[in-house]
Amino acid sequence: MVAYDRRVTDTDYSLTASPGRRLPVATHASGMRIWDRDGTEWLDACGGAMVMSLGHCHPRLVKAAQEQLEKLTFTYRFSFSNEPMIELAGLIREIAPMDRGWAFFNSSGSESVESAIHLALLYWQHVGKPGKTELISRYPSFHGSTLGALGLSGSRWRQGFEHVLDDNPVAQAPNADIRSGRTPAEELAFGLQQVEDALVARGPENVAAVFLEPISGASTAAVVPPDGYLAGVRALCDRYEVLMICDETVTGFGRTGQWWGVDHWGVQPDMLSFAKGVTSGVTPFSGLAIGGEIADVFAAAPEGFPFGHTYSGNPVGCAVAAEVIRTIRDDGLLENSAQMGKRLHEGLLEIAGSSPHIGQVRGRGLLQGLELVTDKDSLEPLAGSSYALAALARERHLMIYSCPTPLRGRVIEAVMLAPPLNIDDRDVDEIVNRLGEAVQALPSV
Ligand SMILES: Cc1ncc(COP(=O)(O)O)c(C=O)c1O
Repeated sequence: MVAYDRRVTDTDYSLTASPGRRLPVATHASGMRIWDRDGTEWLDACGGAMVMSLGHCHPRLVKAAQEQLEKLTFTYRFSFSNEPMIELAGLIREIAPMDRGWAFFNSSGSESVESAIHLALLYWQHVGKPGKTELISRYPSFHGSTLGALGLSGSRWRQGFEHVLDDNPVAQAPNADIRSGRTPAEELAFGLQQVEDALVARGPENVAAVFLEPISGASTAAVVPPDGYLAGVRALCDRYEVLMICDETVTGFGRTGQWWGVDHWGVQPDMLSFAKGVTSGVTPFSGLAIGGEIADVFAAAPEGFPFGHTYSGNPVGCAVAAEVIRTIRDDGLLENSAQMGKRLHEGLLEIAGSSPHIGQVRGRGLLQGLELVTDKDSLEPLAGSSYALAALARERHLMIYSCPTPLRGRVIEAVMLAPPLNIDDRDVDEIVNRLGEAVQALPSV
């Protein structure tokens, strides 16, 4: 039970901001920095929850939103299309990893995962295979907080809702357990066997889709799969006639040094969902990229794709998202994400070298994770350390993301960093310095 703090709750009646906890009240922000009401400057090294692709209040995004706000703020998608939506769908088609990509837009990562579920089930109905209704996902994973998306998640956030959730996360993600002792080749075989076993157990004729995060996000802090894994899942999905749906809510829009996580391995999913970095926090926004073969089926259907949400295709969100894509291109931010990601990774390795409590440094580009352990021989999780390290970082005015995750009777302890793609050397080093101090202050258990 979190301590009740009258000083906050007497004046703040929003359940949104962790009620009962005393949080700094943010007043303004720029780039990677947030200032609170007391004038304290915070370094936001995780973009809140991996949201800030271009940092806070990027001038080009603010301008794009302002200009759109003066022209058109809402259309209902069954009544009107709108220009920013048409433009954004064209840009998504250019950067999507699949052939002849189409796009669909929502307001949050969870909504887009729900839309992917709707699309997958309806697709199989349209092509005459209505029995394909089951979904397979992996553990650990996180796909969102609405019940469909939570049902796909192999995450601690299921607790309290398990009795109403579908049992979808049945395949263990490879490389998620650093204690496994498996070689990379064994890990690859293990990960693919997990997916194949799940497909066979459910009966491929019953399965609509396999959902996965190409590189894990909130659940396990940037676990990168072995080379060949995503291509192997693609091959399994093809062999068993199942859709491959990648959740790129965290990994999309340059976060890992490529437009998409799947781009590191040149794999084409059937659908891909995105959110978070797509508007760098300027407006709630998300979407899906859909391969042409699937889109054709809906384009030809009498009702098209009838499921969505009231704000689907919101013109302000679309205008900002299009400006994010243009800015990433104009400013070479995929390259910067890859380069600064390397610098950050090296800095984290140095921290790991001087602490017994870092069991692994992992990630791609500017999505980097640290797994926290009691010691480097046993690699057993250092209980409670994800939150403890985030608290020690906060004492140094550094924000990082905690990812404690249950896995086979243990709770993995890890933290994640996701600074803006336009970060420079100086700010990378500042994150590493403050985090290094926080790690040194971790108590041994
Ligand atoms: C991979 C992934 N998918 C979906 C979601 C849900 O996104 P939202 O909170 O915007 O609904 C998250 C949120 O952290 C996520 O990490």
